[in-house]
Amino acid sequence: MKKALITGITGQDGSYLTEFLLNKGYEVHGIIRRHSISSTERIDHLFDNSEIGNKKLFLHYGDLTDSSNLNRLLEKIGPDEIYNLAAQSHVAVSFEVPEYTAEVTGIGTLRLLDAIKESNLNCKFYQASTSELFGGLAETAPQNENTPFYPKSPYGVAKLYSYWITVNYRESYNVFACNGILFNHESPRRGESFVTRKITMAVASILAGKQDKLSLGNLEAKRDWGFAGDYIKGMWLMLQQDKPYDYVLSTNETHTVKEFVELAFKQVDINIEWKGVGVDEKGYDKKNGTLLVDVNPKYFRPAEVELLHGDCSKAEKELGWRRETSFLQLIYMMVDSDMREILGVSIEEYLYKNK
Ligand code: NAP
Ligand code: GDD
Repeated sequence: MKKALITGITGQDGSYLTEFLLNKGYEVHGIIRRHSISSTERIDHLFDNSEIGNKKLFLHYGDLTDSSNLNRLLEKIGPDEIYNLAAQSHVAVSFEVPEYTAEVTGIGTLRLLDAIKESNLNCKFYQASTSELFGGLAETAPQNENTPFYPKSPYGVAKLYSYWITVNYRESYNVFACNGILFNHESPRRGESFVTRKITMAVASILAGKQDKLSLGNLEAKRDWGFAGDYIKGMWLMLQQDKPYDYVLSTNETHTVKEFVELAFKQVDINIEWKGVGVDEKGYDKKNGTLLVDVNPKYFRPAEVELLHGDCSKAEKELGWRRETSFLQLIYMMVDSDMREILGVSIEEYLYKNK
């Protein structure tokens, strides 16, 4: 039985990866931080299963800022594969806590790689690199493994360090280490302050009468959004190859935040009509003129990544990986999940009742 260690196991990707690896027959170990209230909501369903919790899935307290803890855990667990998903992963927040972001999202990766090297552990290492490395310059799209990096936030710069230290430990010490350069991937488990989940929750909350309108920042930013569940397999495939390389995973499509908003409301039969420009741009319900979306400059970032559009042909060719969920299916899945959670009905039930 192979053993995997996942940092960031409580996050969106960590939870899907845990399910995936357990299904493949792995023994899975995850590092969790101590919180005043539980942070394991996304994996509780697995851990609470008596066949799995403390039999196939083990949780250990730890933190990417604590080297001695990481050294001890590696020695104790002896994993065959390490997936480094832990990070202060919010781009906007990284402008507020740049030093902390560098400690966790940047130096945290070095701590893990150095723990592997010092322990002489024969294990494979996956680093959660990001399309934020590219900086989103229109002239570089579609971005692939050869596109120059130009990070635009403390988060992006910290991830740039992690990218290169992963390459460096591969080249210097022969560590089987891969960077997965992943474009945005979302799901019903996405953190609530990322734009997609903020939008899909707002659709359900507005219908439930719990929220008046949705306030957003840059409506014109373009992202290559896929489904997180599809991307997990790509991470695993990278570590199953004969040699370690770096790969882009993406959908090869790009859409604006505005398009995401329109399609999310469209799922519940609301058509958005836009009026005004810039900070005065507003989205109204075409049927009755109700204000549903506006712009609040507090969500603008000091520097913006304007356009992410991935080219994952290398992963398609060498890993045989491709996304399975379309943009529209992703939006439907997220709105449906938030409708069930907030309103207590599925999209289908809601549309039937409001025919
Ligand atoms: P997420 O939901 O924000 O999860 C982040 C995880 O990191 C959480 O489990 C969090 O634990 C943990 N963490 C934060 N600080 C830590 C620390 N100091 N020590 C140990 N653990 C810590 O992120 P995600 O969306 O799953 O993304 C996973 C990784 O992929 C991240 O590294 C992210 O930067 C990268 N990435 C994500 C995307 C995307 O679109 N989702 C795209 C490219 C790259 P708590 O629960 O305790 O907070
Ligand atoms: N969060 C947020 N909130 N973003 C907004 C809002 C808002 O109210 N309004 C507009 N946006 C725009 C942001 O300015 C950005 O251009 C885009 O929506 C996406 O923002 P996020 O969903 O916060 O994601 P991100 O692209 O900045 O970062 C995510 O993807 C990266 C991969 O490209 C994170 O998951 C990163 O960890 C990941 O590396």
